Amino acid sequence: MCGIVGFIGNKEIKNVLLSGLKELEYRGYDSAGLAVLQNGKIDIFKAVGKLKNLVDKTANYAPTGFAAGIAHTRWATHGKPTEINAHPHQGDRAFVVHNGIIENYMSLKETLIKSGAKFVSQTDTEVIAHLYDHFLRDLGEPKAAFARTIEAIEGAYAILLLDEAMDGAIFFAKKHSPLEIGKVGGEIYFASSDAPLVGICDSAIYLEDDSWGWANASEIAIFKDKEPQNTPAKPLPATQTGAQKEGFRFFMEKEIYEQSRVVGETIMGRVAGDSVRFDEIGEGFLDGVSALRLVACGTSYHAAMTACYLFERLAKIEARAEIASEFRYREAILREGELFIVISQSGETADTLEALKLAKKAGVLTLAICNVDNSSIVREAHTAILTRAGIEKGVASTKAFATQTMVLWLLALLIGDRRGAISADLMSREIMAIRKSALALQVREETHDLIRRMTKRYLYGHGFFYIGRDIFYPLALEGALKLKEISYLHAEGYPAGEMKHGPIALADAELFTIALMPRAILREKTRSNVEELIARDSTLLAISGEEFPLADDLLPIAASDHPMLEFYEMMVAIQLLALEIAVRLGNDVDMPRNLAKSVTVE
Ligand code: F6R
Repeated sequence: MCGIVGFIGNKEIKNVLLSGLKELEYRGYDSAGLAVLQNGKIDIFKAVGKLKNLVDKTANYAPTGFAAGIAHTRWATHGKPTEINAHPHQGDRAFVVHNGIIENYMSLKETLIKSGAKFVSQTDTEVIAHLYDHFLRDLGEPKAAFARTIEAIEGAYAILLLDEAMDGAIFFAKKHSPLEIGKVGGEIYFASSDAPLVGICDSAIYLEDDSWGWANASEIAIFKDKEPQNTPAKPLPATQTGAQKEGFRFFMEKEIYEQSRVVGETIMGRVAGDSVRFDEIGEGFLDGVSALRLVACGTSYHAAMTACYLFERLAKIEARAEIASEFRYREAILREGELFIVISQSGETADTLEALKLAKKAGVLTLAICNVDNSSIVREAHTAILTRAGIEKGVASTKAFATQTMVLWLLALLIGDRRGAISADLMSREIMAIRKSALALQVREETHDLIRRMTKRYLYGHGFFYIGRDIFYPLALEGALKLKEISYLHAEGYPAGEMKHGPIALADAELFTIALMPRAILREKTRSNVEELIARDSTLLAISGEEFPLADDLLPIAASDHPMLEFYEMMVAIQLLALEIAVRLGNDVDMPRNLAKSVTVE
């Protein structure tokens, strides 16, 4: 959610900043901007919409020589996506880019206006620039002014600030929003995630919460509570993987096709013979764990819901899934013996991270299931299992979900085994199914073609209901979420057995029901629920491994006797369905309106 880059050095600074932003664009694309400080003068450019507009606007701008610069790609929180609200924001001497939310900006703004500051934007960020100028006038010294600015603001932030009178320097601050610094010779790079630094820097300093400081060609000074810090650098991956579309129309499409391979990688080294192991989970780690609480947002929450069925069924352990933003404020009671599992693709989702911190504070054991090593969530949790999906660029999550559910399935088996809840026979059948998952996730061209053709009948109408039972209920929620995100059509996921308790009132020929109809579990019960809808003339698309002549359309999958294999088959089908509907509607599948990857605001 929003992306930040910064640079101090002697390279072609515009290109460094723009290529850094390119790596982060999927995190926010309402507007983009950059500011370059050279010889006491700042050049600033902003453009509404995708990064390409900023690239066009700066086409004739080519600064050379030593300079410092900051840049930002925005997902709007305060104020519309206009040029005025685009970052960098400026005061008299200060130019600022910021990720996060300044919670006390209204009161700060009022005070600053009374003392003469002129605000032009509707953003919370602009207060940082005026505050800095204000303290600079008071204290007469930039470092002290920046320190006071950081003391005065509340909320979540990653901030870079240029002072027009301080050539070659960038001030920075971080709280609850990621920010890292890389150094190569005399060049210094800033970024809000690894991607802009990978391939340029070998390592990065991941700033801790409440850190602030400044950097110039000769030093990087980091402080926390006025105390100098010596935050060590950690290695970065050597190469950027998965960042190209490789012939696919969209990153999302490529990522759907990759699921089979990445799930294979998720399993690698974790299944040996008929047993499961995670190197990340030490011998005694699960001792004393008597219940599981899974907390996440969005698609990751759907993985958590799916896992609860698996944990209770396979490991015979109480498991409960919660939405992180709800968990945080409901004064939840955590019991001794609970393992608190957070699930996050990005590892930076603000609500999930804060829920994790609450759990740690309450003294319970925490485990992160995450796709991004070194992310805030991975660093915060007692231990972490990486999902190995590779970089996920499509804003609508696909392969992350596939790998999350696989890790959780494996974990259910591991816990079940340690608790003595799984017979050798069941374990062996589960492992066999796990080994077949990669095949179930393979996209069959004929299915994709069929979906492409079928979608022309599913563009209009007054809404979609995705229905399913058991693990197919969270999958129905996920199907509806995928469709909403990229097609902008209204869709709901519902437990199939619950339709008759109200929502069936909506049923008519213009209501599209996408029915997830497995063979392996609750087959007849699901069929009855679907027939109730057919009786009310709902237009029905059945996704099933079996014939179902009552359906208007059948999207065939390979039937299986294992529900998780049908789950994966259907997962691919609902992802492709959403993709092809969005394509027909002419939408930008990878960067859907109003969304951004990695939600670092609460
Ligand atoms: C949906 C989607 C979001 C994320 C949610 C949590 O396609 O991507 O719903 O799942 O914002 O993000 P992570 O998993 O990064 O914590």
